Amino acid sequence: MAIKIKNTDKMSTKDQINYIKLLITGQLETEKDSLALMSNISAIIKGVLPRINWVGFYLLKENELVLGPFQGLPACTRLQKDKGVCAKAWRDLKVIRVDDVNNFEGHVACDEASLSELVIPLIKDGEFYGVLDLDSPIKNRFIDLEEGFIEIGKLIEDYLI
Ligand code: SME
Repeated sequence: MAIKIKNTDKMSTKDQINYIKLLITGQLETEKDSLALMSNISAIIKGVLPRINWVGFYLLKENELVLGPFQGLPACTRLQKDKGVCAKAWRDLKVIRVDDVNNFEGHVACDEASLSELVIPLIKDGEFYGVLDLDSPIKNRFIDLEEGFIEIGKLIEDYLI
């Protein structure tokens, strides 16, 4: 089913997060295919939130994170466990918020416009299987969004594999 995203310019951050949750819940209730869900979840987040230049999934395959469905410019296809923000979320199994990527040693710059980043590890039945990664072209973009995306991670992580 097609989704129409309304204009969110005047919404508060909290309302934008709730709107993302509502749209994602609609998808989870009507579609089972994980590739279709990850594709639309990326598009919903990018469509609702301003000042985000990249959002998408990396999925664990043979000890690498491999690029999955996303919205934004073409990105690195494989990430190793020892380098970058996504890798840190994988190693620590924690949400990693980077307010200024210039201060994160080993940041993997797929899109050089990115200045801040938020990575949510995805875990099902106790097993890590990938991340949801968001990039912004402005610093400190995720301070007010981190909590909401922890909840969004919990909402989606059981449905994507
Ligand atoms: N910056 C990420 C790599 C993925 S791109 O942002 C799409 C990292 O350091 O892991």
